[in-house]
Amino acid sequence: MKQLGIIFLILAGIAIQQTAIADAYQDYKQSATQTTAFAYLHQVATHPRCANCHGKIANGKHRPTVGDNARPHPMNITSANNLRLMVADHKFVQVPNSSQPVNCRSCHQNSNGVSPGMPPGAANELMPGFVWHMPPQTMVIKAGMTPQELCDSWLDPAKNSFLVHRGGKDDLKTFEKEFVHHVRDDPLIRWAWQPGKGRTPAPGKHADFVKAMQLWIDKGANCPDDL
Ligand code: HEC
Ligand code: HEC
Repeated sequence: MKQLGIIFLILAGIAIQQTAIADAYQDYKQSATQTTAFAYLHQVATHPRCANCHGKIANGKHRPTVGDNARPHPMNITSANNLRLMVADHKFVQVPNSSQPVNCRSCHQNSNGVSPGMPPGAANELMPGFVWHMPPQTMVIKAGMTPQELCDSWLDPAKNSFLVHRGGKDDLKTFEKEFVHHVRDDPLIRWAWQPGKGRTPAPGKHADFVKAMQLWIDKGANCPDDL
């Protein structure tokens, strides 16, 4: 009996933890404010479907991770295998001769592999040529990153400009244009809600995520400490 009781307590603990994680989306759905919107944005961004590709620094290298427990990517893949993209004629194309022979596209195609364990993939006509690759090291979403840290990092132009200038706190107009466009149209972001067999989708719905981003920016893109 005592053992059963302990098992029950453990299960109850897990249930409470999972409810706490699910809450940000539910809270936002119940009452859409700047605070609940950003909490939901943080819940999504720190989810493994997003954080895995943003990668982490391990043994001195920037590496993508895999699965819900962010394990190392097989075959020792690092940012050295990344693609470098640039914009030409409104399309994203690879910078000529910039990629190693083994790069993300060697395995990650325009759609998900059919069975679990096969490489996921995504592409669309909204952002032609924006294929599977990882962001620069400045965009790592660290394990346990707080909402304030995520917010500061998104609004810091030194961290967020790479392919295009994205603005920041001092240029909210550009920030809005780029961030809303990015979260709405980017095939890699949309993929997080259709990650293929054997992977947990990002919380909530893509359309709600886009709305939450729009609401947060419309209200001034304030970080949790200022709310
Ligand atoms: C040699 C093939 C190969 C190459 C090259 C490769 N990957 Fe992968 N990748 C895979 C396979 C296979 C999986 C699926 C592993 C699994 O689900 O267990 C995977 C899974 C992933 C995932 C996990 C998605 C998730 O949320 O679980 C990410 C992120 C990822 N790769 C990013 C990259 C990036 C970025 C590059 C280039 C820098 C890259 N991969 C290069 C084969 C490859
Ligand atoms: C397959 C890889 C991949 C996945 C999955 C992915 N991203 Fe990204 N993300 C990128 C790349 C690459 C960039 C950088 C684009 C550039 O160079 O400007 C980026 C940039 C961003 C940016 C801009 C950040 C900044 O500091 O400017 C945000 C926000 C973002 N991603 C959010 C997300 C969210 C939220 C998810 C999950 C719903 C997600 N990403 C999933 C690859 C990925």
